[in-house]
Amino acid sequence: MTRVLSGVQPSGVLHLGNYLGAVRGWAADQHEHDAFFCVVDLHSLTSDYDPAALAGRTLDTATGLLASGLDPEVCTLFVQSHVAAHPRLAWLLECTATYGELRRMTQFKEKGGENESVRAGLLTYPVLMAADILLYDADRVPVGDDQRQHLELTRDVAIRFNHHFGPTFVVPEAAVPAVAARVMDLQEPTRKMSKSVSSPLGTVDILDSPQEIDRKVRKAVTDTESEVRYDPAAKPGVSNLLDLLAAATGADPASLAPGFTNYGGLKAAVAEALVELLRPVRERHLALAADRAHVVGVLAAGAAKARTVAGPTFERAMAAAGFLAPAEGYSG
Ligand code: AMP
Ligand code: TRP
Repeated sequence: MTRVLSGVQPSGVLHLGNYLGAVRGWAADQHEHDAFFCVVDLHSLTSDYDPAALAGRTLDTATGLLASGLDPEVCTLFVQSHVAAHPRLAWLLECTATYGELRRMTQFKEKGGENESVRAGLLTYPVLMAADILLYDADRVPVGDDQRQHLELTRDVAIRFNHHFGPTFVVPEAAVPAVAARVMDLQEPTRKMSKSVSSPLGTVDILDSPQEIDRKVRKAVTDTESEVRYDPAAKPGVSNLLDLLAAATGADPASLAPGFTNYGGLKAAVAEALVELLRPVRERHLALAADRAHVVGVLAAGAAKARTVAGPTFERAMAAAGFLAPAEGYSG
């Protein structure tokens, strides 16, 4: 069976971009593939973060994944820092990647790569992501469009390691959804929706109430024309709304446009579709948030399962790279 792995940063409650670009597809993938999903908490250290909030955000993110339909009876859900092989393999891979290729990563440049005070971890972060993936022999990595370049790097690192040390890793492929692979900010439609940079009005959370969703969609920035047309370059705001409606209803964004004579009608349809799409997710999230012990238990079982896969892969990589194995094994 195909192995799937993906990850999400512990930003807290998931937003609509996470949901449509990635997590909704994970819930479908888990029934067809052997699926692993992780909350990548070690990635938080790459920029300023609040230590007092990290544990809570990690739990909120895991809760959001369960609310979005991940079923712990079917897939494996865990927290990255609970599986020691991730940062350990990352070191081996860091020494396989080059400064030049890491420096060229778009996200590194966008997050201030030119700045002297930027953390070294921000530069090497995509290699930790490669370790997340390669430890599980993942064939397929379902992600939003913004992660394509990181997946290319993962493939390059795996191919290079295999070439140098002999066949060790499965070379994975990115799986990017056909619609809503890049959900844009509702206030700044040329920028992707994201918890870290968006204004609260620009981002829809999976916990937003129907009234909040309605308000945010109605205030969404469009343009000074009035024609509803699917043209992401010239009309990013309107096209984003059409993308959202398409993703929520299963239709094609361009074919939806002629059905609307003005922006008001489009916004009303988008708001209604999103409210219905997110209603069950929000309800499950609220119920799960009241049962913290359940989520903690799911993560404990997930980490135990993840270790049984990641541990042997890590040992294989260490052996391939020529290390003397500890007599008691690498688990300690
Ligand atoms: P992150 O929250 O950055 O860890 O992202 C988790 C997953 O959601 C990744 O697969 C991203 O590609 C995806 N994602 C994040 N933001 C968006 C967005 N605005 N549109 C589509 N997918 C997104
Ligand atoms: N870098 C990804 C993001 O920012 C998160 C991530 C970390 C990830 N490790 C991963 C995604 C492994 C897929 C597979 O969204």
